[in-house]
Amino acid sequence: MSSVFLKAANAALAICLSGAAFTTTVATTMAAPQLDSITQQPFGKTSKDGRPVELYTLRNTNGCEATITNYGGIVTSLKVPDKNGCLGDVVLGYDTLAGYESDPTTYFGALIGRVANRIARGQFSLDDKHYQLPINNSPNSLHGGPRGFDKRVWDAMPLETAKGPALRLHYASKDGEEGYPGNLSVTATYTLTNRNELRLDFTATTDKDTVVNLTQHCYFNLAGAGHGDILDHIVKINADQFAPINKTLIPTGELRSVKDTPFDFTKPTAIGARINQPDEQLQFAKGYDHNYVLRRAASPFARMTYAAQVYEPTSGRVLEVRTTQPGLQFYTGNFLTGQTGKGGAAYKFRSGFCMEAQHFPDSPNHPNFPSIVLKPGETLKETIVYRFSVCK
Ligand code: GLA
Repeated sequence: MSSVFLKAANAALAICLSGAAFTTTVATTMAAPQLDSITQQPFGKTSKDGRPVELYTLRNTNGCEATITNYGGIVTSLKVPDKNGCLGDVVLGYDTLAGYESDPTTYFGALIGRVANRIARGQFSLDDKHYQLPINNSPNSLHGGPRGFDKRVWDAMPLETAKGPALRLHYASKDGEEGYPGNLSVTATYTLTNRNELRLDFTATTDKDTVVNLTQHCYFNLAGAGHGDILDHIVKINADQFAPINKTLIPTGELRSVKDTPFDFTKPTAIGARINQPDEQLQFAKGYDHNYVLRRAASPFARMTYAAQVYEPTSGRVLEVRTTQPGLQFYTGNFLTGQTGKGGAAYKFRSGFCMEAQHFPDSPNHPNFPSIVLKPGETLKETIVYRFSVCK
């Protein structure tokens, strides 16, 4: 993007996203249906044990569509309007169940647990007991292990709610599964609201002390999945600090100010503006793959805080992320290697970005990070909202 265009795009975003007087609009498609709906179709059987898996399509009154499978709770497509009212699929993914089953590294669109992100050397202690988890991202444990929640079949229940169509998913994770203690009961409810939000509400309970950090792993490209890289997307992140990492992508424990670093997204900035700077942190991760410490909401009564806003100038699409979680992993698709995705598109280096609202990585090994311990009798409750609008 030329710097003139970039300046204009930044100015447009600044106007669009100027605080209270929010001027983005909830777009409708050219032929918006009157009623919201949810439909279901088969998505094949798992190769491991032949379990049938379904695809659910949620459609709201503005014509937006989210298609979700109960395999891994994966959002396989998310169609939202651009500035001309044309629907486009803004998430990366595969056409088939086999595509998702056989991919051990990307976590396209999936629900992530028990513990999202990395645990150093797969080791932690809880109540004076030492745990060793399987290592699936040498030398660390990543995203709940080789068969995390993204590789499990969830029970699904479609629902009609006042906010819009919803899909409630439930998974019972057994004591000892992937090395974690306690029977954990998890629900993840996706709602496609009539405000063009894809909302995700998690709850979890346990029968033994355990550790839990849940997130959602959509890769977005607001120009449309498969439409090139995401470097021209303009990002604003509501955070003054981030967690620096070592060369195996484990946080050092420091929480560093973003000021005067390429990690400062407090003002709208193109992803590509600084991503190739000779900065050690960017080099370790091949781009952005860092946890941001979200500012708390201004009101002490607010459950959620806004986490990030992203604007794509050619389509005019805007994504806003809000959450109850304390951190946001901003990941720029640095480990994409040309995977063949939907419609045969090649998902090259940095062709999608993730905004993973979560607790901080490697939390069990950092007493200064917010705790992810869940105890019997407690109910974990977290929410992540992706809202789509357009800025013309
Ligand atoms: C997360 C991690 C990345 C990478 C992706 C999946 O976002 O932070 O380092 O492992 O998942 O490829």
